[in-house]
Amino acid sequence: MTCVWDEAFTHPAARRGRCDLEDASGNLRPLPVHRWVHGDRDDDLLIGTIAGWCTGPAVDLGCGPGRVVEALLQRGVPTLGVDGATTAVAMTRARGAAAITRDVFGDLPGEGRWSHALLLDGNIGIGGDPHRLVRRAARLLAAGGSLIVEVDTGSAGWERRATRIRTGSVVTEWFPWSTVGPDALPGLAERAGRRVHRTVTVGARMCAELAP
Ligand SMILES: C[S@@+](CC[C@H](N)C(=O)[O-])C[C@H]1O[C@@H](n2cnc3c(N)ncnc32)[C@H](O)[C@@H]1O
Repeated sequence: MTCVWDEAFTHPAARRGRCDLEDASGNLRPLPVHRWVHGDRDDDLLIGTIAGWCTGPAVDLGCGPGRVVEALLQRGVPTLGVDGATTAVAMTRARGAAAITRDVFGDLPGEGRWSHALLLDGNIGIGGDPHRLVRRAARLLAAGGSLIVEVDTGSAGWERRATRIRTGSVVTEWFPWSTVGPDALPGLAERAGRRVHRTVTVGARMCAELAP
């Protein structure tokens, strides 16, 4: 299975870090592909905190090249990566981590049994409807399990827009994507029967644990 996101991980320009999300007005928003592949200091700090929140197996929805899956494994958290892009899954497996090529809205192993489901580093945008996505992720969880969600500290509320990936002159087809600001978190949690249990902010990045 290939998807538009394979472009972000395979194009040479993307590997060097130049890759953007483009909206219908032509606005470009840089995608941190270099960080998804290599991580950075803030990322390490964020993952360290998230690892401390994890008390059992985690599923990383839209795992990309797998650095979060690998880092959580190294910290003793059994983690499975799920991604729709075959390139991302291959890169995750090349790190010695487990990953499967699936759509997060399709059937996934361990439905209703995971301790934690992760939507990090932009992944709250998957599908263009964060309420639907969070409800779907919540169905993966065992009783008492938590969702760990990253929001965009540069946004307010939530927005859905048609988007495509641009790497230099190469563009993908349009697909729905959304951004969610910190102020939208309580409403997002509530509509999935959850509450914001705790948050962590590192530099410009913010994650929240949504507990039952
Ligand atoms: C914004 S990128 C983030 C990558 C990853 N979280 C990271 O930090 O490296 C979004 C990821 O979600 C994946 N994705 C998008 N839609 C998906 C879907 N419906 N099902 C599974 N994966 C999806 C893409 O292939 C991509 O790897």
